[in-house]
Amino acid sequence: MKADIGVTGLAVMGANLARNFARNGYTVALHNRSRARTDALVAEHGSEGTFIPTETLAELVENLAVPRRVLIMVKAGQPVDDVIDQLVPMLAPGDIVIDAGNSHYEDTRRREAALAAKDLHFVGIGVSGGEEGALNGPAIMPGGPKESYEALGPLLEDISAHYEGDPCCAWIGTDGAGHFVKMVHNGIEYADMQVIGEAYDLLRSVGGIEPADQAGIFRSWNSTDLASYLIEITAEVLGHVDAKTGKPLVDVIVDQAGQKGTGRWTAISGLDLGSPIGAIAESVFARSLSSQPEIRATAQQVLAAGTDPVTAPQDADREAFVEDVRLALYASKLVSYAQGLDMLTAAAAEYGWSLDLGTIASLWRDGCIIRADLLDVIMKAFGGRDTSRHPEPGTTAEGQPSNLLFAPEFRDAIAAALPAWRRVVATAVAAGVPVPVFSSALSYYDGLRRDRLPAALTQGLRDYFGAHTYRRTDREGTFHTLWSGDRTEVEA
Ligand code: 6PG
Repeated sequence: MKADIGVTGLAVMGANLARNFARNGYTVALHNRSRARTDALVAEHGSEGTFIPTETLAELVENLAVPRRVLIMVKAGQPVDDVIDQLVPMLAPGDIVIDAGNSHYEDTRRREAALAAKDLHFVGIGVSGGEEGALNGPAIMPGGPKESYEALGPLLEDISAHYEGDPCCAWIGTDGAGHFVKMVHNGIEYADMQVIGEAYDLLRSVGGIEPADQAGIFRSWNSTDLASYLIEITAEVLGHVDAKTGKPLVDVIVDQAGQKGTGRWTAISGLDLGSPIGAIAESVFARSLSSQPEIRATAQQVLAAGTDPVTAPQDADREAFVEDVRLALYASKLVSYAQGLDMLTAAAAEYGWSLDLGTIASLWRDGCIIRADLLDVIMKAFGGRDTSRHPEPGTTAEGQPSNLLFAPEFRDAIAAALPAWRRVVATAVAAGVPVPVFSSALSYYDGLRRDRLPAALTQGLRDYFGAHTYRRTDREGTFHTLWSGDRTEVEA
């Protein structure tokens, strides 16, 4: 018997994906650099399906049905290249190599081109949902050549999460498109967590609401248009008491946020593409700032002249404040989604991908970390899921909003939230509570809507010191003022 798929790299994500395939009736060949993990998986979970444990990559490949499908789940970077280098000589044209790790999309583009030259398919797939998702149904964002989806798509769709019967998996686009979309998912994930953090900080520092009570507030928010996995688990974390100290766990955890790099990649990519993704970038910077303990400690001494202590609002006001914060969170969250999706449009143009935003939003409705009721609304705002991409890719539906914020339901929701959003940002600024994403998202919104931006002055200054020229509002052409001469204007 040959296996339907081989999995190499059996740390928890790889092992869980392998088990997920097996539980869905696929025969799975297993390989790990050290045999012990393979044996442990078979010993503990062998009864879940049919596994073929193997000792070497060559043995793994020998045990695969044609076209061979080999899924690599090793640390992103050089380890992926190392496995590919070993695999390639053993494969035949038409075989499919799948990288399910959080690889950088440029690496995926390079690897795809190298394998295509050898008539092999290389498919970078974004997988979201953590360990639990990998086992029970993640959101899957596959890129790579679209022909590969015929042989691979059905397996991936079977193991993916399902939202009202739709698999949270669909072909995204060629080469690195899947990993790019997963990267942006993670950028949005950073912003989602940061806006939750800002809300928590405000409710505590300004509202005087302790974590245990906030747990109840977040739980109730989970029945509003904020309903999402991250809001749900925020209630869990805030409600958790540390067994050792009896304090809220959140007070015992060191306040320095880690990062593995995908948020940073999103910010860098946004800069490269000229996409204004300030809310996402600010959420990365917020983690960076938190992780500078020395300078923070120094600042607390040197910059001690702070703001006046804030008096917590009285009960009736507190309720209004909590609702204001909820609305500010929602509006800021919408902006970060708008920015992330806008960046996908920019990347599609840059890399020649035909990304369908409705389909992408549909994949994020379940299984992934940013899963939220909102994503179903976003999917519909972009004209729904493009079923022509399943399994064949389709073209972008006509009439999609060119920015999420222009979709009537979101335009109106933000307009309704706007007064509260401004009050919250103003309160935070007055109280000295940092709200980098609440405020940057609001500035993006105001920046988009503003009739005249000070960019005109920037252009004037650039022309003054560097003769960088400017365009005029009343005439075609490019102009320069002779700043160091008689200050007449010349056509450049
Ligand atoms: C997911 C997560 C997953 C992982 C992140 C965490 O979608 O399942 O995004 O990929 O948890 O890599 O990233 P940071 O360590 O950078 O927060």
